[in-house]
Amino acid sequence: MGDWLIFAAMNQMIQKAASIKEAIDQFQSEGPDPAEEFRIRFLGTKGTIKALMAEMKQVAPEDRRQMGQLLNELKLQAEQKYAQLNSAPKAEVHTSGEALDITLPGEALPLGSRHPISLVRNRIVSIFQRLGFAVAEGPEIEDDWHNFTALNLPEHHPARDMQDTFYVSEDPAWMLRTHTSSVQVREMEKGKLPIRIVCPGRVYRNETISARAHCFFHQVEGLYIAEEVSFADLKQTLYFFVQEMFGAEIKVRFRPSYFPFTEPSAEMDITCLICGGKGCNVCKHTGWVEILGCGMVHPRVLENCGIDSSRYSGFAFGMGIERITMLKYQIRDLRLFSENDVRFLKQFAGAL
Ligand code: DAH
Repeated sequence: MGDWLIFAAMNQMIQKAASIKEAIDQFQSEGPDPAEEFRIRFLGTKGTIKALMAEMKQVAPEDRRQMGQLLNELKLQAEQKYAQLNSAPKAEVHTSGEALDITLPGEALPLGSRHPISLVRNRIVSIFQRLGFAVAEGPEIEDDWHNFTALNLPEHHPARDMQDTFYVSEDPAWMLRTHTSSVQVREMEKGKLPIRIVCPGRVYRNETISARAHCFFHQVEGLYIAEEVSFADLKQTLYFFVQEMFGAEIKVRFRPSYFPFTEPSAEMDITCLICGGKGCNVCKHTGWVEILGCGMVHPRVLENCGIDSSRYSGFAFGMGIERITMLKYQIRDLRLFSENDVRFLKQFAGAL
């Protein structure tokens, strides 16, 4: 090959490299996979860069270094562009050739549902709201005064044994509240009368976990304080609640009981919902199940909270939400509420 021809080959290659460079810069694809299209056109074994490299043998030995450098730069540029295209999101491939129908309904997302305890709590609260009760809440870590002493359970009072307590500290005593009755104390201490509140919340007791007991559960406390509140008001309020909650057929009975913070005190039973009052192992063959404790607020509790007990009287009650839920839905094991087994929980989607 004469000098001139060698020079022409080199010149041609430089021109080709320049047009490949331009093609790389301006590469655009309408196809489904631009990166692959680019690779085949520029970097593949039959691509333009490989073809240009094959022409290297026509270049004069003294120019090969320079030409090699030029081709390497070109290849690097193409590889960079290829990497860029590869990281860009790919268009959907519709192999069927059908147009995408954007009017089709989307894929259904699984929807969660409320926990049965939340459902029943909301239901209880809304029944009392219709009677004019407001919602009040208090802290789950309580001091001795609000959880015990103000409620007429002084230190060493035997009634403290009724509630096995998780203490956070001993002196001064701080604990996980054992009942929501602590919220009635906080509300009375505010000194605004009359008071008509329900207090839903979580409570804690040091109990061995079984089908019937847990170390935490939920309660709703109720408190009504005004002038001339009587036991008849208490009975009528709770009777209304039970009928709204379980249906008009339900019967109630009050049994005398003891709580340090009420006098007189009672426990309220309703007809067993499992056997309809005929007797079964849930109601221990009595036809009745206990659902709450209640009574007239003890005058000493009123005085402890700065309320004049000669002028005001009131009633209070407290119930376990788990118990009401178990009766309403015939659930036999308390542990189901905290295990979070979706097979159990999803049965309550849309309930109540
Ligand atoms: N605090 C009681 C308990 O946890 C429930 C209770 C009973 C609350 C009678 C009251 C009441 O307000 O009057 O077992």
